Amino acid sequence: MSKVNLEDIVSLCKRRGFIFQGSEVYGGLAGTWDYGPLGVALKRNIMSLWWKMFVEDADNMFGVDAAILMNAKVWKASGHVDTFTDPLVECSNCHARHRADKIDTSKCPTCGKSGTFGEPRQFNMMLKTYVGPVEDESAVTYLRPETAQGIFTNFKNVVDTLYPDVPFGIAQQGKAFRNEISPRDFVFRSREFEQMEVEYFVHPDHWEEAFEDWRKCVHEWFKAIGLPESMVHELEVEAKDRAHYSKRTIDFEFDFPHGRDELLGMAYRTDFDLQNIQRVSGKNMEYRPKDGSAPYVPHVIEPSFGVERAIMAVLTAAYSEDEVNGEKRVFLKLPAHLAPVKVAVLPLVKNKPELVAKAQEIYKTLKSCPLYSGAVMWVDTGNIGKNYRKMDEIGVPYCVTIDFQTLEDDTVTVRNRDTTKQERVSIDTLKKALSI
Ligand code: GAP
Repeated sequence: MSKVNLEDIVSLCKRRGFIFQGSEVYGGLAGTWDYGPLGVALKRNIMSLWWKMFVEDADNMFGVDAAILMNAKVWKASGHVDTFTDPLVECSNCHARHRADKIDTSKCPTCGKSGTFGEPRQFNMMLKTYVGPVEDESAVTYLRPETAQGIFTNFKNVVDTLYPDVPFGIAQQGKAFRNEISPRDFVFRSREFEQMEVEYFVHPDHWEEAFEDWRKCVHEWFKAIGLPESMVHELEVEAKDRAHYSKRTIDFEFDFPHGRDELLGMAYRTDFDLQNIQRVSGKNMEYRPKDGSAPYVPHVIEPSFGVERAIMAVLTAAYSEDEVNGEKRVFLKLPAHLAPVKVAVLPLVKNKPELVAKAQEIYKTLKSCPLYSGAVMWVDTGNIGKNYRKMDEIGVPYCVTIDFQTLEDDTVTVRNRDTTKQERVSIDTLKKALSI
């Protein structure tokens, strides 16, 4: 269990502009969240790092960006219409609805009455919608509950246009929607969220090697986003708990503030999806090896990463408290490459034009430096001590302060977030002092 309280993270996210309740001004919409200026930057940094690691830096990986709305046949063929369900129970006293597998059904967690739940019924989690102006059965489709199907349906397109050799992977990032019975634990279980998924196509005889390779890649990812090894755990999922398509699943769990829970999943999906597409669409999904050997339908290893859970894990690992000059300090020890703001520039006073001009010059130089990708913040309201605390709370690795001495000797103060140590450096060597 993490030592961080969920309330502390939720409150920091709201106070500092990371994540807000969706539609908050109208009383909210359960299970939806809006990202503020810092949240969107953190989210993009995480997603870009993933894309770089798993697509751009790899030799055999291809990206796609498929439509969220797909032909309803996709969800019939994939088994989601029939089996993508959670067990739902309703309290006969207060009418609260809960997921039967997540609570002790002898007592209602909402009203506290015992024996108020009947038998669970299976509730399909896909969000239904109609395409076009007529709301009849032929117009029904669903907001995708996983990005994976947009990959499977493009398998042939990628093979026929780029001629990859098996093994190869197709990756996609994007929104997914699930009508969760009880969204909970901040963004952990949302109704609208984002996934980063890979379908890695292999010869059926080689799935075990690929599974082990991906297992290592997943741990490299955890390292890259700054998660301590001690907070990550693997759970071999028993057959009865696996998704309908999986012959083997490992859940990678993390010590979240609410307890140990699933951060991401990795499944051996066999040829389940390509065979279903072949059967229902009538199109051949076989792969023809270039060496002339027998064609086959590839099998699939699927590491499936949730963006919101990655954000929660990163914030949990980064959330820190210490004491500075007898006062409690909260700071986010984010890895610099994920920090939404890399450097803050603070003029000591606002009413001395030469000092502000000097600070602006430094701000513009840093802002245009590719190393910081524009993630440089100008901070000129409030007193310097309070500003340092605000920058600590949003995880800014360095603050650069321009003061009266700067005007005399072209030096500035560089303050380090983690140590709070301040160092006087010459403007000429500033970029070196700010190496991230
Ligand atoms: N394509 C496989 C698939 O979707 P999953 O285990 O259902 O597998 C994969 O979901 C990941 O998506 C989860 O490990 C989690 O990170 C994320 N995820 C699933 N449901 C979520 C929800 N309601 N809110 C936030 N993230 C969710």
